[in-house]
Amino acid sequence: MTRPSLVSAHRDPFVIHIESEMVYANDPCLALVGGQTPDAVIGRSVSAFVAEPFYQPLAEQFEQLSTQQADALGLSVEIEPLDRPPHECVIMSSPVEWDGKRAIQSTFLDVSADATDEPVFTRAMNAAPIGISIADATDDDTPLIYVSDGFCRITGYGRSDVVGRNCRFLQGPDTRPEPVAAMREAIAAEEPVTVTLRNYRVDGTMFWNRVTITPVANTAGEVTHFLGYQEDVSQQKLYEHEKTLFEKQADAAPYAMFITDRSGSIEYVNPAFEELTGYTAAEALGENPRILKSNQQDDSFYDELWETITAGETWEDELVNRTKSGELFRVQQTIVPIQNADGEITHFAAIERDISETAFTDQVLDVINRILRHNLRTSINVIDGYATLLEETLEGSDEIAAAAAISDRTRRLETLSEKTTHIRNLMERRSEKQLVDLPTIINYIDQCRRNHPEAAISLTNTVTDDIAIKNGSLLQLAIEESIENSVIHNDDGQPRIEITFSQSTDPPQLCIEIADNGSGIPQTEWDVITANQETPLQHSSGIGLWLIYWSITSLGGTVDLTRHGSYGSVLTYRLPVVDAPNSDS
Ligand SMILES: Cc1cc2nc3c(=O)[nH]c(=O)nc-3n(C[C@H](O)[C@H](O)[C@H](O)COP(=O)(O)O)c2cc1C
Repeated sequence: MTRPSLVSAHRDPFVIHIESEMVYANDPCLALVGGQTPDAVIGRSVSAFVAEPFYQPLAEQFEQLSTQQADALGLSVEIEPLDRPPHECVIMSSPVEWDGKRAIQSTFLDVSADATDEPVFTRAMNAAPIGISIADATDDDTPLIYVSDGFCRITGYGRSDVVGRNCRFLQGPDTRPEPVAAMREAIAAEEPVTVTLRNYRVDGTMFWNRVTITPVANTAGEVTHFLGYQEDVSQQKLYEHEKTLFEKQADAAPYAMFITDRSGSIEYVNPAFEELTGYTAAEALGENPRILKSNQQDDSFYDELWETITAGETWEDELVNRTKSGELFRVQQTIVPIQNADGEITHFAAIERDISETAFTDQVLDVINRILRHNLRTSINVIDGYATLLEETLEGSDEIAAAAAISDRTRRLETLSEKTTHIRNLMERRSEKQLVDLPTIINYIDQCRRNHPEAAISLTNTVTDDIAIKNGSLLQLAIEESIENSVIHNDDGQPRIEITFSQSTDPPQLCIEIADNGSGIPQTEWDVITANQETPLQHSSGIGLWLIYWSITSLGGTVDLTRHGSYGSVLTYRLPVVDAPNSDS
């Protein structure tokens, strides 16, 4: 529980209240109002023990303090204790933080005839949680003639160190000249002024001081004194600074972000949130995130969410939300509980990444997959069956050759339909981050040898460093495609594939060369791939090359196609590498 530091040290009766409802009363206060128990006081209005004519002026002062129009205010009232006759009191009120909320501390200074010790004026000054200072306007250089306990606590100076000096001794190397000039001009013009500037404590540490200076005039209207209020706003400044930094980042963030208080009331949204949800910041602030509720998740989903975050843990899941205009969108959401210095959760920060597009792509791929793999395949099988039947029953050699050609083409079509699975693999594997080392990559080649026993696949490895690449699945996919391509497009009796691994150091790259004795990839097909787009006139005949290109470029690498010597084609991948996880270097 955050409580004002003054509370425990206080011997004067005081209450803490939010608006006028009391949330805490110390023992001297309970005694002052007639031996009440805390339960009889908490939840009631401060004016419960004040004579009726003072209700209104007291409420006005609380309003001014709550709306930050004043830092400290005092009112002379008559209080009505249960066990004694009414008597006079001065209520000194100033804002404090209570349980993370803005509250007011009102201290009751008993000024009745039987209350003695220090003059009420001194006690009132010292009771205030802010610093109070008085300077003589008629003396040279406006020297301080009084500072309160609050001033000494904030600055670390003793009273005798400062009385007689101009208050500029609080300024130091990084105090900016503008607020100092503003004070100088206001004092010269005998006008009130409030500035926030860097000041320094007696031990040299810097603090942000919010200073208010007000001229005090005598009955003839001449300014005789200046009254100064000092408030250490370093925490607030730090918070503002961090908030500005955060807002700068959040403003530029490509994903929707919002912050709620503990009860779920939205306190901040970034521009990406406004764009994604259709709610402007003004519409969203103060609302509960349930404005986004789509009813696509049941209550237990939200119960689990709240259980997780109120236990101080991060919650992460996919969910479907609804925009202001009613459209559904799918997000990957992360909610992080934010705690204060006492470990209490004060806020929740949420990040929503729109994955509607990804979900859409997944769905389209599923449908294509089903149509090409199952429906098309069934038809292909039927055609192939009839073609085989024709081959067996036809007599003329031309007719048999035609039937064989149908069979051959249908098998190619079948291979093509299988490729949709490979596209799916590519999409799924793109986000993987699994590091793989060289032995694992060599393993991929062994696997290809097993899949294509008809081909002679050789490997020359000149890499000596312990290197790794960032996403092994994608490289595996590219290698499998390249080898399959070399085997299929090969009219030679035995497909021959020569693979070479080498490395370069600047930049650190793994170079994989795959050379075959096949018919060679036509240059026009490769041009389509490297131009990165297809047109109706110019397109590649299959998707194998695209798969190789997408896989390698997704890894941050490059692919080149050359032809040299007796080789059909030579594909060269250059891939960025990192040190293998268990290497010593
Ligand atoms: C009552 C009173 C309180 C002041 N409190 C502060 C203070 O807390 N911090 C500060 O830097 N200056 C404070 N000043 C302002 C300086 O005393 C001084 O007026 C200011 O530096 C501008 O004058 P100069 O340019 O002659 O220094 C206060 C002045 C008065 C009259």
